[in-house]
Amino acid sequence: MKVIESLETLWQARKEMEGPVGFVPTMGFLHDGHLELVRQAKKQCASVAVSIFVNPTQFGPNEDLDAYPRDLDRDLTLLESVGADLVWTPTAREMYPDGYQTWVETTEVTQSLEGSYRPSHFKGVTTVVAKLFNAVRPDKAFFGQKDAQQVAVIQQMTRDLSYPIEIVVVPTVREPDGLALSSRNTYLDEEQRKAATVLNRALRAAESAYLDGERSGAALRSVMAETIKAEPLAEAQYVSCADRVSLQELDRVTDGALLSMAVYVGKTRLIDNWILK
Ligand code: PAJ
Repeated sequence: MKVIESLETLWQARKEMEGPVGFVPTMGFLHDGHLELVRQAKKQCASVAVSIFVNPTQFGPNEDLDAYPRDLDRDLTLLESVGADLVWTPTAREMYPDGYQTWVETTEVTQSLEGSYRPSHFKGVTTVVAKLFNAVRPDKAFFGQKDAQQVAVIQQMTRDLSYPIEIVVVPTVREPDGLALSSRNTYLDEEQRKAATVLNRALRAAESAYLDGERSGAALRSVMAETIKAEPLAEAQYVSCADRVSLQELDRVTDGALLSMAVYVGKTRLIDNWILK
């Protein structure tokens, strides 16, 4: 497995990679959710590149950029174990040199849900993913359903900028009790960790109402909100039942609709989602 820091070395190494090339962008502190993306990429591609970069431009001023967990040695061991061929760990200085002033912005699908509470987040995501795509030039790029709006935004950007890249979406990997794996779960103490199952419980409750015939978006949102309210350590920031492509809230719900939420457990902000069928 090649581990590369500079852009110029990456360009050189990219020339020698056998195609099709799969790409998994990450911010590191890897868990089984990330590794599942690499496993899928290995299955579908001749070689797999992974990037590890805690992208400063997608964190808001009061968010956890400095506290974001990092452990490069452990990440490299894990990536080697799942057969990654190349790991690129760009520096912030090379990604955003002094005087940096060019941004990639997707204007509509970024407005609701996460975008309404994290106003500059997706501008940072689309900019960095465009830069990563330009450098790695993959045939396929792998993203987790865990970040449902990120998937919608990246698909929109890929279409709009005519990238010849197939976006592959990998189902969310969960703990046995239903909690979606996330690097931010490490912020939770024991009691909060138990309370954090409320996201999955709320999604299940809404799904079960849907399967019982409930088709009102407002009613499904209220099932999720009530489930979260019943958990004293949790506080919902938003609950949503939306169209999975436009991310607009739905009045009448049909198969394929996206249930999603952001919930604070203590100071930790967790997100989760589920597609109804
Ligand atoms: P990060 O949060 O490190 O996640 C990297 C990829 O792993 C994303 O596609 C995310 O959706 C996926 N992922 C995270 N948890 C998962 C889980 N439990 N199951 C399946 N996939 C999961 O998302 C980012 O980094 C950044 O925004 C990035 C795209 C790298 C741009 O900086």
